[in-house]
Amino acid sequence: MYSHEQIGGGRLPRVKVLAVGGTIAGIGTDDGRTTQYEAGVIGIGQLLEAVPQLRRLAEIGSAQVANIPSFAVTGDLWLSIASRVNEELAGDDCDGIVVTHGTDTLEETAYFLNLTVKSRKPVVVTGAMRPATALSADGPLNLYNAVALAASRSAEGRGVLITLNDAIGSARDMSKRHTTTADAFGQRDFGLLGWIVDGVPRFYYDSVRKHTIFSEFDVRGFAELPRVDMLYGHGDGGRELVEAAVAAGAKGIVHAGMGNGGIYPDTREALAEAAAQGVVIVSASRTGTGYVTAKPADRLGRFVTSDNLNPHKARVLLMLALTRTSDPALIQAMFDIY
Ligand code: SIN
Repeated sequence: MYSHEQIGGGRLPRVKVLAVGGTIAGIGTDDGRTTQYEAGVIGIGQLLEAVPQLRRLAEIGSAQVANIPSFAVTGDLWLSIASRVNEELAGDDCDGIVVTHGTDTLEETAYFLNLTVKSRKPVVVTGAMRPATALSADGPLNLYNAVALAASRSAEGRGVLITLNDAIGSARDMSKRHTTTADAFGQRDFGLLGWIVDGVPRFYYDSVRKHTIFSEFDVRGFAELPRVDMLYGHGDGGRELVEAAVAAGAKGIVHAGMGNGGIYPDTREALAEAAAQGVVIVSASRTGTGYVTAKPADRLGRFVTSDNLNPHKARVLLMLALTRTSDPALIQAMFDIY
């Protein structure tokens, strides 16, 4: 039995696959070298043809939104993916969405969608660590699992989901944590939400942070997101990069601090001056796990802390928060719930 779920009237669920590019659409010249290839080459039609088994799971529609490596993804592209997902899900002819995406920034796009999609229907983001031409390419099974998840009523209302390597994670908490292995994604502070076994999703946990229909962020109709830059903390830090970000028009800066958000003194001084000019500063951690607590100097500078979001997800939330307010106290309240 392969078609796991049917919708009223016995029809298969309708799943739309939106392709953005990445390694899942990548081609290499040597099938034994899994890291030597060009990402974002194969079109969505060819990707789907390679997995005819998808037709057991769902009626498949598709669209090519972009075909790029994900390190080239922009805020403008996030806006257009979110708008496309919202449009598709608003119709009666779409029961779920799969986004195929490069893995480098997959977690950021997924978190952006988690905060901006206005639907309970499943939205699943997937990719691959090995190009389509590699030995033991992981793209086909990841795509199969993603469609199974997007077609499943058990995935409704759980926020945007990520699946690779059989694992199901939440867009908020799942991250890429390895450069090359097929098992690159995990949830550092928390367990996975579940697993997909033989094409059947099995859930055990949920992310309780606000998402999708409970989120206050609505970017429908937005042409642009506020600029937010990110600085990586280190000893011998200076003021110059903070000043450059402010001069370039940053409305917010995420500082990936040392340990529990530690900031080099000169950098801290420059950040406090930027905050006094109205730039919102989020203090995050370069450790990749753990809650960042507010220190007395952070409070004095009106810095926001990132909760336990990694710096790049904190950047996503700050960009969205700045569409609503530039008051650090209100933005801190958002970091406490999203
Ligand atoms: C990319 O993110 O586009 C390249 C890496 C990958 O997809 O695994």
